[in-house]
Amino acid sequence: MRVLISESQIQDRVRELGARIDAEYAEGPIYLVAILKGACFFLADLARALKRPVRIDFIGISSYGQNRTTSGEVKLTKDLDFSIEGVDVLVVEDIVDSGVTLNYLMHVLEQRKPRTLRVVALLDKPGRRLKPVQVTYAGFEIPDVFVVGYGLDYAEGYRNLRDICVLEGEP
Ligand code: IMP
Ligand code: MG
Repeated sequence: MRVLISESQIQDRVRELGARIDAEYAEGPIYLVAILKGACFFLADLARALKRPVRIDFIGISSYGQNRTTSGEVKLTKDLDFSIEGVDVLVVEDIVDSGVTLNYLMHVLEQRKPRTLRVVALLDKPGRRLKPVQVTYAGFEIPDVFVVGYGLDYAEGYRNLRDICVLEGEP
């Protein structure tokens, strides 16, 4: 396992993203919508990097199953608890890969008429895009490697690693 992005690099970048988001939003709370489960660690740190009021909600989407490559199929496995009509929604995602998950989710959320709808993703693999997604705030662009840690999993393992690591040598 090779460290790609260290814990301290992650924390520095999350603070920078927080400062930028604080500066770019109008008055009022930001509704952080985290995509389960990978984005939970990022959500927890980002929410505390923000100085303005936030609300937190979760949405469950599945498109990957146990494999490393997208199945192309997306389904909602857990919906939001709150209405997002007329509020500023910031979708918090761990990594944007093919874009299939977020492309689907953005269509679902747009129909609920939020005031604004943006995406913050800690990691972005722009070289792998199959569906267009606008990522307003991106932490790190990474090459086409499979990463685990800081919430990211391989078959539900490794989520609690403090660094983001490249998983090598497994099928
Ligand atoms: P997309 O729909 O292909 O953009 O996939 C997004 C989801 O796939 C992410 O939320 C992750 O759960 C998962 N994913 C994509 N790349 C990786 C990776 O390198 N490691 C772990 N999970 C990944
Ligand atoms: Mg996953």
